[in-house]
Amino acid sequence: MKKMLFVLMMAFVVNANAQDAKMKTFVDGLMKKMTLDEKIGQLNLITPGSGIPTGAVVSTDVEKKIKEGNVGGLFGVIGVDKIKQAQKIAVEQSRLKIPLIFGSDVIHGYKTTVPIPLGLSASWDMKLIEHSAREAAIEATADGLCWTFSPMVDIARDPRWGRIAEGGGEDPYLGSQIAKAMVKGYQGDDLSKNNTLMACVKHFALYGAAEAGRDYNTTDMSRVRMYNEYLPPYKAAIEAGAGSVMSSFNEIDGVPATGNKWLLTDLLRKQWGFKGFVVSDYTSVNEMINHGMGDLQTVSALALNAGLDMDMVGEGFLTTTKKSLAEKKVTQKQIDDACRRILEAKYKLGLFDDPFRYIDEARMKQEVLTPERRKEAREIAAHTFVLLKNNNQALPLKRSGTIGLIGPLANDKSNMLGTWAVSGDPQMSIPVLDGMKSVGGTGVNILYAKGANISDDTLFAKKVNVFGTRIDIDKRSPAEMLTEALNVANQSDVIVAVVGEASEMTGEAASRTDITLPESQKLLIMALSKTGKPLIVVVMTGRPLALTEENNYATSMIVTWHAGIEAGNAIADVLFGNYNPSGKLSATFPRNIGQVPIYYNHKNTGRPSAPNSPKFQSNYLDAPNSPLFPFGYGLSYTSFSYSDLSIDKKEMKASEKVTASVTVTNNGNYDGEEVVQLYIRDVVGSITRPLKELKGFQKVFLKKGESRKITFSIGIDDLKFYNYDLKWVAEPGDFEVMIGTNSDQVKKSSFKLLK
Ligand code: BGC
Repeated sequence: MKKMLFVLMMAFVVNANAQDAKMKTFVDGLMKKMTLDEKIGQLNLITPGSGIPTGAVVSTDVEKKIKEGNVGGLFGVIGVDKIKQAQKIAVEQSRLKIPLIFGSDVIHGYKTTVPIPLGLSASWDMKLIEHSAREAAIEATADGLCWTFSPMVDIARDPRWGRIAEGGGEDPYLGSQIAKAMVKGYQGDDLSKNNTLMACVKHFALYGAAEAGRDYNTTDMSRVRMYNEYLPPYKAAIEAGAGSVMSSFNEIDGVPATGNKWLLTDLLRKQWGFKGFVVSDYTSVNEMINHGMGDLQTVSALALNAGLDMDMVGEGFLTTTKKSLAEKKVTQKQIDDACRRILEAKYKLGLFDDPFRYIDEARMKQEVLTPERRKEAREIAAHTFVLLKNNNQALPLKRSGTIGLIGPLANDKSNMLGTWAVSGDPQMSIPVLDGMKSVGGTGVNILYAKGANISDDTLFAKKVNVFGTRIDIDKRSPAEMLTEALNVANQSDVIVAVVGEASEMTGEAASRTDITLPESQKLLIMALSKTGKPLIVVVMTGRPLALTEENNYATSMIVTWHAGIEAGNAIADVLFGNYNPSGKLSATFPRNIGQVPIYYNHKNTGRPSAPNSPKFQSNYLDAPNSPLFPFGYGLSYTSFSYSDLSIDKKEMKASEKVTASVTVTNNGNYDGEEVVQLYIRDVVGSITRPLKELKGFQKVFLKKGESRKITFSIGIDDLKFYNYDLKWVAEPGDFEVMIGTNSDQVKKSSFKLLK
């Protein structure tokens, strides 16, 4: 068996080498024909500005530039017709007929929008996440695209940062699994197929650690923290074969990522062996002027020297590289290397064989927004919701009586798509009101009232509404809306309040210093609770919110994120019990903003938290250290109990494995899924180690009354970390093993790693 595997592996290596050699011959041949200007042209990525510009600049004279060979790729061009038009100019009217690469932010689905990435991560279901990326790739490629600026794998521990919505949450292990799943989903097993998209891992690196959660702000951290806690998901995405990487806006050790040679060359290429190309973020080359790194020529040369290959929008490369070469500020080899990497990407995508391989109007009609895809989007969404509270088993709802459906997001079509739904059409989305009516059926009477504005603050609304109305301030006064809502509530048997954030209250440049619900909605929830009716609070959000007040008022509470085009149906499916919720938080929900940054895998400190000690411990005076809802938390309509945690040995040699098992029982009244989580603590180390770290999880389906033994195999790699010298080591000594339903509620055992 082993021999056969070896033979197969060798055959694969030989084949890959032959393909690489063929690609090299082709690219060598092409590059021999290219002028310096044409080479520099390949490094230029521009946007005609018909998409959503996220910076001040959009590109001009696009057509002329393509004809002159001054463009390597375009993004923000949506629609197969427009893409075809641009590709035709490149391959018919430019001297060397080099095809363009077409990118876009396909972040959570394409036209069939699925939940925001933070929501997807809460499914803890890697097959589902991979599948959602695969579906997005099929749709996006059917509309002419071949490159997506996704996955975003930035670890985020600060919910003030609006872009926490775009990633997989706070944990490096979960984040790494998601990174792999998404790259596999987009790229499939062959990039040249007409239904696979090249992935672009972003934002390299540490973008999620912006100080104070303010977007684009400074980051600064130790290498030990970087290697152990922030870098793993990027590395995992590279190992999964991601074709490209996007540099981030922030600085690292005082040098902006886009011009950081240590990051883009030493770490990414030399240590990790990355072979693809690196693109800047939107004008991030030019922004190094503001960072204080010099003028446009200086920062462009800095970026090329650092290992950046493609310049997004700013055209610093296009306009200054020739001069920098003449002045010996960059080398011909640097230009050639960057150009080669971009041409190689185009080669791998099959664009030299057929520049129109992703351009097929018939496929677009067959593949985009099909009823099957919508059905899948609905199922995917239902798997991402996290049930936070369910007193008196108020959920699932009965399909009888009167439901008062109240709230600014209860009959809203635009916000549920979420941030970065670049290609999503709000008109095609299903609001909660429609979903509730169709899933509830004729036996249930649904009364609706808006109840409140998302926010009453007009200045805030203006900032949120830059891409169109997301916060629609009603013509009626808040008091009038509230009166109507209370009227509805008083006629109802149960109240379902749909509240939360507008989509653009999260995402890029959407940081908040207050992560509670806006005042208008707080007042609504408080008033509804006073009716004494069961109050189900449905929270649409793109970030962990501080829901302390709502948690006090609500009978049940469920977070549904911004769940995409089918949100309304999916929410109704879960509220009425067609699907039993199984999501678990991938980022901690704090009690209040003062606890931020808050994350489960923290260190012990020399004076660990001692809630009852009056002083001199690492506590707050005015709040507990514990969050409102911990990482990994999420309830089900059924209940699961954990028993009989056992490990098969108390001592482990480096070459061995420890098997840890636990029995999980569904002892409630519904069939359901549970995410069984494995955490490990390295008790004594040469550097301080977290109190626990996620090292495995399994999502299992258990029928009502069923018990199952769940087993985890712990190997030496699960015990390793980067030490003070950044060596990846496992240190002999004691390890705690914890298995449970969330990061807080676990059963414990331990073993020793022998010398
Ligand atoms: C964002 C990236 C995005 C790019 C292109 C930037 O502003 O930071 O995440 O991929 O724009 O739209």
